[in-house]
Amino acid sequence: MLGIGSEAWDRLFANPRPSGLHLFGEIIAGPRHAVSTPGDLIFHIRSEREDLCFELETQILMRLGEAVSTVDEVKAFRYFDNRDLLGFVDGTENPVDQEADEAVFIGSEDSSFAGGSYVIVQKYLHDLKAWNELSTEYQEKVIGRTKLSDIELDDSVKPTSAHNALTTIVENGVEKKIFRANGAFGRAGEGEFGTYFIGYSRSPRTTEQMLQNMFVGRPPGNYDRLLDVSRAVTGTLFFVPSLTFLDAITPEGPAPATVTEITDPSESSSVGTASSDGSLGIGSLKGIPRNE
Ligand code: HEM
Repeated sequence: MLGIGSEAWDRLFANPRPSGLHLFGEIIAGPRHAVSTPGDLIFHIRSEREDLCFELETQILMRLGEAVSTVDEVKAFRYFDNRDLLGFVDGTENPVDQEADEAVFIGSEDSSFAGGSYVIVQKYLHDLKAWNELSTEYQEKVIGRTKLSDIELDDSVKPTSAHNALTTIVENGVEKKIFRANGAFGRAGEGEFGTYFIGYSRSPRTTEQMLQNMFVGRPPGNYDRLLDVSRAVTGTLFFVPSLTFLDAITPEGPAPATVTEITDPSESSSVGTASSDGSLGIGSLKGIPRNE
């Protein structure tokens, strides 16, 4: 999967952004901080085989060459039965089949971008020592599910601050879902233990509402206790174009947008038209300050 950030969009294309694409809005609530960090492109690469991930990443970066510089690179892994490093199974309540499609893909509400999606990513670091000092019973109340057997706590015992309570969004009687593809990552020798949150959604508003509930609380103050032991160190929103959209920016297809020229004098290539070697011909995304 490839995602494009709002600032990159504005530099690459002259036509309007997808309606939900904007800079990720930071949230500050007491000691809790959902930071907003820059990012023009994201590549989410998944495989059962690490060598294939590595090879694809290498190929992509070789093709992009000097046009980009890497700001973050996270290698995630499957941890036991899809658990996060806190020990809980992660992803159980993800929608499947048609429900997943409805949760994730943009439809007629923004028809020029139909079939695309949005993704919000956040890199969280956990204080695993502090977490492990908590009783399993307390941890289960933080998450809202049992740890070993991954069963949802009954409403009679589940606190309203439980993670799975605060991330349940109901609008007009309908539950708004997102699709999560979180990754566990870390370097034990460095004391680094993390969860790379990856949330796909048809509209970023759903994920943003979940974040408000987690960081500020619902009602305010009734925040997600996961954040007592987890710190977000990145946070970025991207538009994920459909394959049809991407195909349209080859030499054969119609241009998706009126293209703008990169004005950086060190770069001569224009953007949006592919070169004869089949590359996207994307101009440099480097060295252009934010909020210009
Ligand atoms: C520290 C990072 C996070 C960790 C370790 C974490 C872990 C978990 C776990 C263990 C579950 C329960 C199993 C499941 O249904 O998947 C869960 C559920 C969920 N999480 Fe997270 N999560 C994190 C961040 C987030 C964020 C940032 C969001 C959204 C903005 C989010 C949204 C959800 C949703 C929607 C559910 C399902 C709720 C339900 O319908 O029961 N999570 N998460």
